[in-house]
Amino acid sequence: KIAVLAYSGGLDTSCCLKLLEDKYDYKVVSVCVDVGQPVEEIKEVEEKAKNLGVLKHYTIDAKEEFVKDYIFRAIKANAMYEGYPLSTALARPLIAYKVVEIAKEVGAEAVAHGCTGKGNDQFRFETTIRIKAPDLKVVAPIRDLNLTRVEEIEYAKEKGIPIPTESKKYSIDENLWGRSIEGSELEDPDFIPPEEIYAWTKNPLEDKEEEIVEIEFEKGIPVAINGERLDPVELIKKANEIAGRHGVGRIDIIEDRIVGLKSRENYECPGAILLITAHKALEQLVLTRDELRFKEIVDSLYGELIYKGLWFDPLREDLDAFIDKTQERVSGKVKVKLYGGSARVVGRESPYALYSKELVSFDEKEMDQKEIAGMVKYHGLQAMLYELVKKKNKQ
Ligand code: ARG
Ligand code: SIN
Repeated sequence: KIAVLAYSGGLDTSCCLKLLEDKYDYKVVSVCVDVGQPVEEIKEVEEKAKNLGVLKHYTIDAKEEFVKDYIFRAIKANAMYEGYPLSTALARPLIAYKVVEIAKEVGAEAVAHGCTGKGNDQFRFETTIRIKAPDLKVVAPIRDLNLTRVEEIEYAKEKGIPIPTESKKYSIDENLWGRSIEGSELEDPDFIPPEEIYAWTKNPLEDKEEEIVEIEFEKGIPVAINGERLDPVELIKKANEIAGRHGVGRIDIIEDRIVGLKSRENYECPGAILLITAHKALEQLVLTRDELRFKEIVDSLYGELIYKGLWFDPLREDLDAFIDKTQERVSGKVKVKLYGGSARVVGRESPYALYSKELVSFDEKEMDQKEIAGMVKYHGLQAMLYELVKKKNKQ
């Protein structure tokens, strides 16, 4: 019997690989889904899997699908959860989906993942697996055996699994949409993150010169940076690179996990912060006040769905329908000034702008100011009535 393991090459999933053979009697097929991890890492994963004796290893390049079907939707929805642009969360359903496809292909009995019972990823992986393949068993050895990191390291030594070195003491998850850094001293919420945890963002203190970057959107999707049209994967990489060199996108928060645990999380998401900031500014220019207000509610629900791993929930498709309709007019260009860790919008233009210089300018006569007097007069009508009622009822 075969189990297909979502394999990252890290300590958790390497222990899983051996445990599946040892304790569950499975032959293991490992799958590494490439959603933009460092290239060296992807190669290492394959080598590691083979050294640990898998039946077969698959590397699946899902970068383009990740950007087109997931990241672009997240941008249109300005998707965030408690200030986190959802990088890890967004990739999990896609990874799980790809693993399920391999499981079906090789006729596996089970799909396995290396998540602990404390985190969010177990929800995201398993939910997708059960939705896409209700007949497959799900095995979660680390959670099943209630293993701690120290116990994992013991087991790893026994099984010839490479032990993470001191420089790899953090639990890092990386994809095109961002980097998550957890664990070790960072578990103390009052411990100040050392510079070494960052890989994508320069120290904002070292920023020498500001830079203005122009992002062009078509129907809510970024298509060009500084006038250069880029294919989806290249565009996201470029956004990370440009914003990263100004230290934009470092996030340090206390986050409410699905199970209710509060956890201390560090992220660097330079491209996500840049693109969402620019996208929001364009929406502000072209959507009506009521659309913006309603969309804020939709956006926040959308972010929550992603966080909770409910990407394949029908509500997501329903929300997409509303969002896509609004995005028909979200085309245009936004200029963002990057300096010392901040990304500040400094210009915007769109053929769909609801902004009218003729109407709003103090120098123009296009709109007859006198007509507004009546509107102003009764603006606080209900509050005026409330004051009267209060007085009347006091006597
Ligand atoms: N808290 C984040 C999330 O739930 C990040 C989890 C990242 N995992 C990791 N192994 N660093 O999406
Ligand atoms: C884990 O606990 O397995 C990783 C982190 C998370 O799921 O939030």
